[in-house]
Amino acid sequence: MPKSAKAKKPTDIADLTKAQAKVEWMRLALELEGHDKRYYQEDAPSVTDAEYDALRQRFNAIEKRFPEFVSADSPSQKVGAAPSGRFKKVRHAVPMLSLDNAFAEEDVRDFVGRIVRFLKLPDDQIDFSAEPKIDGLSMSLRYEGGELVTAATRGDGAEGEDVTANIRTLKDVPQKLKGRNIPDICEVRGEVYMTKQAFLALNERQKAAGDTVFANPRNSAAGSLRQKDPTITASRPLGFFAYAWGEMSAMPAQTQSGMIKWFEHCGFTTNPLTKLCHSVEELLAFHHQIEERRAELDYDIDGVVYKVDRIDWEERLGFVSRTPRWGIAHKFPAERAMTVLKDIEIQVGRTGSFTPVGKLEPVGVGGVIVQNVTLHNEDYIKGIGNKGEVLREGRDIRIGDTVVVQRAGDVIPQVVDVIIDKRPKNAAEFHFPKKCPCPLHTDVVREETATGEEGSRARCTGEFACPFQKIQHLLLFVSRRAFDIDGLGEKQIQYFFDQGWVKEPGDIFTLAARNAKLKLEDIEGYGETSVRNLFNAVEARRNIALERFIYALGMRHVGETTALALARGYGSWDAFHEACLKVADGDEEAIAEMDALDQIGDTVIKSIASYFGESHNRGIVERLTREVTILDAERPKRNSPVAGKTVVFTGSLEKMTRDEAKATAERLGAKVSGSVSKKTDYVVAGPGAGSKLKDAQKHGVQVLTEDEWLKLVGE
Ligand code: IVH
Repeated sequence: MPKSAKAKKPTDIADLTKAQAKVEWMRLALELEGHDKRYYQEDAPSVTDAEYDALRQRFNAIEKRFPEFVSADSPSQKVGAAPSGRFKKVRHAVPMLSLDNAFAEEDVRDFVGRIVRFLKLPDDQIDFSAEPKIDGLSMSLRYEGGELVTAATRGDGAEGEDVTANIRTLKDVPQKLKGRNIPDICEVRGEVYMTKQAFLALNERQKAAGDTVFANPRNSAAGSLRQKDPTITASRPLGFFAYAWGEMSAMPAQTQSGMIKWFEHCGFTTNPLTKLCHSVEELLAFHHQIEERRAELDYDIDGVVYKVDRIDWEERLGFVSRTPRWGIAHKFPAERAMTVLKDIEIQVGRTGSFTPVGKLEPVGVGGVIVQNVTLHNEDYIKGIGNKGEVLREGRDIRIGDTVVVQRAGDVIPQVVDVIIDKRPKNAAEFHFPKKCPCPLHTDVVREETATGEEGSRARCTGEFACPFQKIQHLLLFVSRRAFDIDGLGEKQIQYFFDQGWVKEPGDIFTLAARNAKLKLEDIEGYGETSVRNLFNAVEARRNIALERFIYALGMRHVGETTALALARGYGSWDAFHEACLKVADGDEEAIAEMDALDQIGDTVIKSIASYFGESHNRGIVERLTREVTILDAERPKRNSPVAGKTVVFTGSLEKMTRDEAKATAERLGAKVSGSVSKKTDYVVAGPGAGSKLKDAQKHGVQVLTEDEWLKLVGE
């Protein structure tokens, strides 16, 4: 349990040992993160500003005495670094989403291939705007009547923070748009960054003044923007490159390159390296050229971005969940570093799968301190890849080895090589456990692949009996992207579980009612405030979005994106739940309907069937749904003529590909199904339509030609 923060006089920082300081630093970091979240994201602070400032001061003082504790994810390095600079929220008129990543040439070829197939066009007709990917903070600037009215950070994509006063101090951001015929509403989006030179100079000044030094230019740009006092932002040289837009009451250009020129006319700075490319080869050459020039640029970039140039085509291509089909970020190769592997621990996941985790001598890779790496599975440690291929020229990984660690973007760091010359003489081969490390010591089996062969993943056979799996599921349940319950971290979950107080998710919601007996406030180090905060945090989550709820169930292969696709597809918990029970019963119509949803395939359906096929799981779900209210999913474009309708496409379509037809229908709020039933509203039939057309006639469903459908949806 967390140590008590009771009113005992704190030890002077000068008297703390390094170990004591580290413990306190970690505790304060967690505490500050919790306070920031409650204040910024939930508008529900649990401490006064003065209490908050005192915590932050002590935290900063510890970091000042032990600068080696500062890591890239320390609260002092994050957005929110300002002592008490707290900002209003702004809801984005058009969400600020992000780009998918490509790392290899093949990924870029696939990206272009997908676009070509989707648009049914020869690839030599598609132009791309190729732009450096600036490593800063994205910003949305709203102009009304040509005047800057709001500047907002990206935040969670739907809502950001109002940093208008600070943004006004940037020389690259015009207060008033230049030129004639400016649309009444213009949202100009781009990246705020700090030059490398300015970053180094700022850190020198910070160091001299005894203030926090920043880990990289991106963090210092974020910290500089999050100042309560705009004069501080003004003293920090920040730049802005315009490259995108949000809401526009009229479009001043028809292409991305045209928009970039228009931004320049309006008085913005755009990136001078941006280039119009006409083929995949030109895109790859651009990536290569920019990578070669990366070091000489005075601002950080972490890749290049490719965007379909024609905006009407971008619109047709649209988005798949939260990333566009029309654009991609082609990242530069990962950064690498060498360090020693101190240990290998086995983590048991919520579905019982084993992941060996390498514990490293901490090492900096690309601005982040890495201490843990995934070693994937038993074969990977031995030097064998997923398809049986030889990895690292067959070199196995042993405790004590000097290893090369790689980190690419947000991907979990990997061990990519072992330096055999540095291997200690006594380093023994690693033996993968045959029993689960949980108290039940259940047997471990290697999973079968889809083709029935032995796979590389090891799994504990304990299922519902394995306490490790239960705990992992509870942890996923309370995690940020699921129920997001503050104050329930690993330690608390483990403790409550060991006490038998929380054995499954529904128990979390009955804690408060049981507290007269449990008396959480009597637990050492907990105290009344923490208990009150915990109960408030739990209460705040009794209303939950459908996609979060589905994700929180922790079904295999149902991650966030899949959960969102399911939520959008079914709209309500009742509809989804009913479908799941039918799917588990092998109901063919229900299976076909689920299969017809965008992004849902066999693997997910099998996993849902097996989850809801278990009475144990159905019990967990039933007890949980008694405690919470599950909110219907936002179905896109409710006011479109086909919103809420079920459509079946059959035969060959001539003006759009099947994928495009499906994506457009779903964007407009329709449900696309693979089979015709009496619940179907429209069957869109092209040449060659067969049995589905007959089914439509049988059930009296309206049949449309492709043109009639396009007219109906107004495309
Ligand atoms: S376009 C739908 N263009 O990279 C998002 N983004 O993951 C369209 N970025 O959040 C973004 N340089 O912060 C775009 N030339 C560029 C960019 C760029 C940097 C950042 C941006 C965005 C992230 C994409």
